[in-house]
Amino acid sequence: MFLPIKFFLRKKTKDNDILTDMNHNREHILPKHIGIIMDGNGRWAKKHGKMRSAGHVEGAQRFREIVKYCEKIGIKYLTVYAFSTENWRRPQEEVNGIMKLFKEYLIEALTDFQKENIKTCFIGDRSVLSKELIDLMNQCEEDTKNKTGLVLNIAINYGGRNEIVKAVKELAKECLDGKILPDDITEQSISQHLYTVNQPDPDLIIRPSGEYRTSNFLLWQSAYSEYYFDNILWPDYTGKDLERAIEAYCKRNRRYGGI
Ligand code: IPE
Ligand code: IPE
Ligand code: MG
Repeated sequence: MFLPIKFFLRKKTKDNDILTDMNHNREHILPKHIGIIMDGNGRWAKKHGKMRSAGHVEGAQRFREIVKYCEKIGIKYLTVYAFSTENWRRPQEEVNGIMKLFKEYLIEALTDFQKENIKTCFIGDRSVLSKELIDLMNQCEEDTKNKTGLVLNIAINYGGRNEIVKAVKELAKECLDGKILPDDITEQSISQHLYTVNQPDPDLIIRPSGEYRTSNFLLWQSAYSEYYFDNILWPDYTGKDLERAIEAYCKRNRRYGGI
């Protein structure tokens, strides 16, 4: 269902003065799917004279808040980049700290978040994670599979190239098994073999922290995503910053190669 953003946000977030002040005649709609590259934890920690791990702790809190905020304003899909296939290159201690935070979040999600109407999915290659984490992730997906509100994709050990390789391997196997012919492969069938199967492509991808790159995030799915970059470090990110990104998105003209 499409609603004018002014109407929608006035209704959903009463004290929101940025978006409700928008003076547009055109009908604006919220992005259906938002992707966020949660970046800048390390630099935030350094700026505050703390260990990098403190930045990740703070960043995890912002993640919790932004998820709730997206649910509140009626975003349908949110994909957050939490750990990339390249992040294993970091010192073991930092990786362990991030995995510990992830475990804490999962346990919390399985208890406290039951009341939220959020369907949680994990995208990425989970097979290399600890059995404990894999079990918690599976449990979390199972427990929330019938929720009808926000679909939350948490990207863990996710890489866009890795995901495309996975899809190609699966399709090659279907060819070898005689289920399909190479000519049957289409853009749609590739999409069907990605982690985001049956989900719409992201409309808006936000990267805070002042870096202007995708770092392997949703490569296939972002073909026509609108990007929004800003300089805020993720642990400083607030709902207002998200509103600003959405407001900018609403003003853009998406042409998809047309005119
Ligand atoms: C993002 O923050 C968190 C992860 C990649 C896990 P960073 O840790 O990359 O923070 P910076 O970029 O070093 O500041
Ligand atoms: C991207 O951030 C990955 C996540 C936010 C999880 P990085 O900090 O790993 O990206 P680069 O290394 O700056 O490209
Ligand atoms: Mg970074």
